[in-house]
Amino acid sequence: MNKKNFYITTPIYYVNDVPHIGHAYTTLACDVLARYKRARGYDVFFLTGTDEHGQKVEKAAQANGETPLELADRVMQRFAALWKKLNIANTDFIRTTQQRHKDGVQKIFSKIEASGDIYLGYYEDWYCTPCETFWTETNLIEGCCPDCGRPTDKLKEESYFFRMSKYQQQLIDHIEAHPEFIQPRSRRNEVLSFVREGLRDLSISRTSFSWGIPVPGNDKHIIYVWFDALNNYITALGYPEDKDGNFEKFWPASVHVIGKDILRFHTVYWPTFLMAAGLPLPEKVFAHGWWTVEGKKMSKSLQNVVEPNMLVDKYGIDPIRYFLLREVPFGLDGDFSHSSLIHRINSDLANDLGNLISRSTAMVNKYFAGILPPAYAATEFDQKFIDQFPEKLALIDQQMNGLAFNKALVSIWELVRSANKYIDDTAPWALAKDKELHQQLGGVMYNLLEAMRIIGLLVSPFMPDTGASIMEILGQDKDNLTLDGQDQWGGLTAGIAIEKAKPMFPRIVED
Ligand code: MSP
Repeated sequence: MNKKNFYITTPIYYVNDVPHIGHAYTTLACDVLARYKRARGYDVFFLTGTDEHGQKVEKAAQANGETPLELADRVMQRFAALWKKLNIANTDFIRTTQQRHKDGVQKIFSKIEASGDIYLGYYEDWYCTPCETFWTETNLIEGCCPDCGRPTDKLKEESYFFRMSKYQQQLIDHIEAHPEFIQPRSRRNEVLSFVREGLRDLSISRTSFSWGIPVPGNDKHIIYVWFDALNNYITALGYPEDKDGNFEKFWPASVHVIGKDILRFHTVYWPTFLMAAGLPLPEKVFAHGWWTVEGKKMSKSLQNVVEPNMLVDKYGIDPIRYFLLREVPFGLDGDFSHSSLIHRINSDLANDLGNLISRSTAMVNKYFAGILPPAYAATEFDQKFIDQFPEKLALIDQQMNGLAFNKALVSIWELVRSANKYIDDTAPWALAKDKELHQQLGGVMYNLLEAMRIIGLLVSPFMPDTGASIMEILGQDKDNLTLDGQDQWGGLTAGIAIEKAKPMFPRIVED
């Protein structure tokens, strides 16, 4: 049988900044979905990388007394190391300075130019260097950039233009015909009204600096950094040669996950570039919200940038992965605070999940010498407990496919809490007092450990190490976790040895 394909991407990160929790958040979300889809039997291509060209990078390198490539090499390592530390299982890492990317971008540029949708003209407008964006006079707020508020400069330069205006109606039609294309919904409306106001042709080359990919046949011009960067999603797949067949197999992308600040680039520029190149559009672009820190915008000048390495060293990988995706509905803004992180770890991980694991495994060891007794649903109550699993699994599948990570975690935790309540309600310690109820007690133990197995599979994409530890305790193969088929109730076989679990999530005392 042919495997189903799933292609998921993060934005490629600028190398003029070092990684912080905002970047980690996007990458983590993609990793969770990539892992989930793999567990559901999909062939997954998960791409991340770094955006290394442009004036911002050139300026940052100058300020550091190094070449742009030296800067890129250094910062790119920091991203790659952080992804390793956070247990990110990406398929590929693209750098825009790689030859495969530069060749691909030039070929795409030439192809669109040959079709007549790129032409040479003059540009005169207000330019915001930090945002690498031109604005018309009416866009400016008191002369400053409407996005970042910083001063803009008037620039007139010879420039190549992309005939974006030509694709206005086609883009509107596409967005209207594909309600799932831009998510969440509010973002879709925002884009639609922007496009309806009219699309201008887009300047896609610069002559004022040199750090970038030259326009083919006219190397006075450097290709605009967003034309360069967006194309990473297809050059990484080998477009246009497609020697390995990855483009054929994985394009169009299943989902581009991005932050809300780069929505327009992904839902207006990118789709129109693709239309001009005669390529299909991505199935979905999902824009998540922004993190503030203790109520304030994260910024170097406020010195409140939350550094993920430090968080992982202090609290562990899985708690951080869990917290970032549980705390805030994906799509909305959220606030990071140490006290809410500690609260989540203590209540959801130590109390709920940790307790379930330690109580259940301790009881099997106490009452059955660590050997799993056979399944036995003695009462209607037991059956009800069992029956909620298939229903919840179907709901969680929907939530994951909708990138509603926090809702999926809420659903998983309903199972965790229900299993803890099952212990309280069935009171195994009372059943253990009566020899005649031994089989019933065994059934309760089986149900608990089987619940723990399914919960282990479900938490795995979010907390891979925790999922693996749960499988180890249950004597299962921790390296080949799959939800395909194994999510059915009754996967554990009676007679296997169950380890008594050590506490997994020590409680944290706030300092
Ligand atoms: N290089 C471009 C993307 C090109 S994609 C073809 C870029 N890079 S970035 O490094 O500035 O940002 C990358 C991602 O990090 C964006 O999706 C952005 O939304 C996200 N975040 C940066 N700060 C953030 C927060 N404070 N909170 C959440 N995400 C944030 O843009």
